Amino acid sequence: MAQVTIKDVVKTYPGNVTAVKGINLEIADGEFMVLVGPSGCGKSTTLRMTAGLEEITGGTISIGDRVVNDVPPKDRDIAMVFQNYALYPHMTVYKNMAFGLKLRKFPKAEIDKRVREAAEILGITQLLDRKPKALSGGQRQRVALGRAIVRDPAVFLFDEPLSNLDAKLRVETRAEIKRLHKRLTTTTIYVTHDQEEAMTLGDRVCVMSEGLIQQCDTPITVYDRPVNRFVAAFLGTPPMNFFDGQLVAENGGTWFKSNHGVSVELTGHHAELAAGKVGSEVVMGVRPEGMFLRPTEFASTESQTVNMTVDVTEPLGNTMDVFLSNATNGEGDRATARVKAEPLEENASVKVYLDQSKIHYFEPGKFGVNLTLPELAGVGA
Ligand SMILES: Nc1ncnc2c1ncn2[C@@H]1O[C@H](COP(=O)(O)OP(=O)(O)OP(=O)(O)O)[C@@H](O)[C@H]1O
Ligand SMILES: [Mg+2]
Repeated sequence: MAQVTIKDVVKTYPGNVTAVKGINLEIADGEFMVLVGPSGCGKSTTLRMTAGLEEITGGTISIGDRVVNDVPPKDRDIAMVFQNYALYPHMTVYKNMAFGLKLRKFPKAEIDKRVREAAEILGITQLLDRKPKALSGGQRQRVALGRAIVRDPAVFLFDEPLSNLDAKLRVETRAEIKRLHKRLTTTTIYVTHDQEEAMTLGDRVCVMSEGLIQQCDTPITVYDRPVNRFVAAFLGTPPMNFFDGQLVAENGGTWFKSNHGVSVELTGHHAELAAGKVGSEVVMGVRPEGMFLRPTEFASTESQTVNMTVDVTEPLGNTMDVFLSNATNGEGDRATARVKAEPLEENASVKVYLDQSKIHYFEPGKFGVNLTLPELAGVGA
């Protein structure tokens, strides 16, 4: 068991591509840390530097109390699981799982004990004599997990281990990895570009973009309290809705006015925090589940309603996604509301009630700061 400390780590590849631009991350002993972000943001590079598969250009990585920058991968006490399983095709499942231990000259009886135990945990005991080609994708990935488990390493490193599996199997195997972590409590760093996987698996989720960490916190916090527009937009399906506009003072209050006629009053601590920004361009963000088509206990204030038109509805069983707009000639605000299923005509005019607690105001731009987080504004809630 061990904590992992990533300090001021930079990676520049030949050709002057800086894939990781100085990141700091402390992963506690036993913690399940997920690195998530769009393609090319530096997730795999960070993981591969931790594994020792990629040289570190600057900064230090420690596993336990030892700086491992110059320690070869085999001596780092880590086990890595990749997307493509990387099983040896000519070996049986048993031999695939035993191979790493054999290389490390473990006694035969110890190898046998560990392989059988891991197979038991993963429910693949009946497959031990098969070769990989006689296994399904999900079974192969379990063998790859088994190969990592038998090593009993200080740290597991996963790089998109589920992305070759179909949707159903991905969800099942995800649950299995979670159970596995509960049982073994091995420190884990898990890379995915799938935000749902990140939210369901991580003790903490580290959202990356362009070689930098944008926010690293519990799944609930990154979802409910995103530090900037990038994090807000990256997490959640359907994604958060954004409206471009300005803050204006009107009728003794502070109002958000979109460029296309949406008008919402800021109340409570939102009004307080945004007070200094009156007159500035801002972006209002509201999650689909924060928009209602009728008043509710969370959203009933007249000054926080928006008139829009139903473009299309997508039924999802007990809920539905309603695609809304106030666009004329293609110009306008668009939003998606996730509401309880009900019959709704396309092109109907509807009044949309906004849940103030699901609204955020951001500075303009891709990484615009969340103005409505007290900790960022330096104002008490
Ligand atoms: N060996 C390499 N040589 C040069 N550039 C590289 C190399 N490996 C990765 N890169 C670049 O570094 C950046 C980060 O790559 P990385 O593989 O870490 O991204 P990622 O977040 O894992 O993306 P994905 O979700 O697509 O796997 C990208 O711009 C990529 O093109
Ligand atoms: Mg990758």
